[in-house]
Amino acid sequence: ARLPELLAAMPKAELHIHIEGSLEPELIFALAQRNGVALPYASVAQLRSAYAFSNLQSFLDIYYAGASVLLHEQDFYDMARAYLARAASENVVHAEIFFDPQTHTARGVPIEVVIQGLHRACVDARAELGISAALILCFLRHLSEEDAFATLQQALPLRDKFIGVGLDSSELGHPPEKFARVFARCRELGLHLVAHAGEEGPPAYIWSALDVLHAERIDHGVQAQHDAALLERLARERTPLTVCPLSNLKLCVFASLAQHNLPQLLAAGLCVTVNSDDPAYFGGYINDNFTQLFAATGLGVPHAYMLARNSFEASFVDAGTKRAWQ
Ligand code: ADE
Ligand code: ZN
Repeated sequence: ARLPELLAAMPKAELHIHIEGSLEPELIFALAQRNGVALPYASVAQLRSAYAFSNLQSFLDIYYAGASVLLHEQDFYDMARAYLARAASENVVHAEIFFDPQTHTARGVPIEVVIQGLHRACVDARAELGISAALILCFLRHLSEEDAFATLQQALPLRDKFIGVGLDSSELGHPPEKFARVFARCRELGLHLVAHAGEEGPPAYIWSALDVLHAERIDHGVQAQHDAALLERLARERTPLTVCPLSNLKLCVFASLAQHNLPQLLAAGLCVTVNSDDPAYFGGYINDNFTQLFAATGLGVPHAYMLARNSFEASFVDAGTKRAWQ
């Protein structure tokens, strides 16, 4: 088969997807209408035309504005169901989905509304589409550690509905160690731990995500390229990097996909995976990320198998399921 067909057909896990980043402009407008929320854009086309980013922060400003239409449990359900249907159609058999509760609780939406809606979508998608899905609660790093602790406290009655915690939002100026104590608490609670690090930030942020937070996976991590000792460690420990090629392109982390360093990271022996990050904003779901990256960099069939296999190795599914999938 041709490479694009193989990339689309191969079973894979998606491990770096922000559910609020799967909100398509059409759904933003439909929910705005349903909920009586005013948007600063006149049309779907006008909103879409605002999707031109120069760095992470320029994206986050629009991403948080888009999420303002989410008010009721059904809104969170509809958003997650739409993503899971799309993912299943792209042969994603397992998804570990980030959500940003503080984006919603800050607007007065109770955390139960957020988590119950997302969780119900995961349960129904499993039954109706056969896709397995789990939730990872992310703390917003531009807010305080105290705010993260309050969020964790609110979420704990729903502890059985998420498998871990992550760290996202504005990276520069908000190093992982700012969240040392709340991650230590999450570790005691037996939650899985991941963190965005080395997207725009320096290799030092990856070191502290590993050594201070005890992150099991690094989200993005592409700046590890600039630190040989770090690369050696990530390879030796097989700490997964959840890389998002189209995100890195659209946020100007790399000037072109041809210059993306995923091939070098893979060649250095790291457990690299391919993911979509915020597909509604970056112009492609997971298979577009694979196809466009492979076309631009000349990766081939052996790399496709390696990346699919890595996605299962890097996932938090139980060991038996992992063996069966790999
Ligand atoms: N939130 C959503 N997408 C993100 C990204 N790429 N980096 C940091 N925070 C995010
Ligand atoms: Zn991300």
